[in-house]
Amino acid sequence: MSRDYESLSDTAADRFVDEFRQKPESLVGLATGGTPEGLYQRLVARHRADPTLFSQARWIVLDEWGGLEEDDPATCGHYLQTRLFEPLNVGPGRICRWSSQPFNPQEECRRVEKWLADEGPIDLQVLGLGKNGHLGFNEPGRELIAGPHVATLTEESLTHAMLSTARSRPTFGLTLGMGEILRSRQILLLVSGGAKSQQVLRLASGNITSEFPASLLHCHGAVTVYCDLEAASVTSFDASAMATATGFL
Ligand code: PGA
Repeated sequence: MSRDYESLSDTAADRFVDEFRQKPESLVGLATGGTPEGLYQRLVARHRADPTLFSQARWIVLDEWGGLEEDDPATCGHYLQTRLFEPLNVGPGRICRWSSQPFNPQEECRRVEKWLADEGPIDLQVLGLGKNGHLGFNEPGRELIAGPHVATLTEESLTHAMLSTARSRPTFGLTLGMGEILRSRQILLLVSGGAKSQQVLRLASGNITSEFPASLLHCHGAVTVYCDLEAASVTSFDASAMATATGFL
């Protein structure tokens, strides 16, 4: 449990770098959104101090807003290009990103699936937690999909802050599926702020349901939840009970 967002980002960055020291050629799955920004800033600072640190890394983008123009600054690809790939000098050969306007979205999913079949599994998957409990665009529903897929976006996702400056409204989502997420060797789930406290409480219950995709993380043996005090602020929430009940750190 971290005191605040800054210490959450520090702790997650320390862990991230430790993983890289053990396996410099790690394949990393990257979430976008507000929560991982602090982590990504710290990774850039670590790279400046040691330019060899991530020089062998490979990267895959977790999801994308389908229908946005390729050069729309609201795309997940643009977010990661400016915050991580450019500052870390990552060449295109070491990145798998989604086209936001693919000619054939199903084909695009198959392309990403093939890339992962060749390069995967993911060593380190960074995740944020949606206000509706989604992971990537694995949205709550009666079913979840294992592989890369075209997702119907929920209203909650369509009001995400990332879209506040988008030139148009996305018409679908493109996302890795729960199968790729759960096959990742290590998962770092970052959760910050009071707006997530109900979802943290839900996660702490240990129950699994497709209506709360994040709950499937209970099926994975190596998830670390980086949570700050505000996110854990629901009165009855007890971090140590969560650790005991779920095996989460
Ligand atoms: P956030 O988004 O980090 O901006 O809260 C997380 C998500 O919606 O998956």
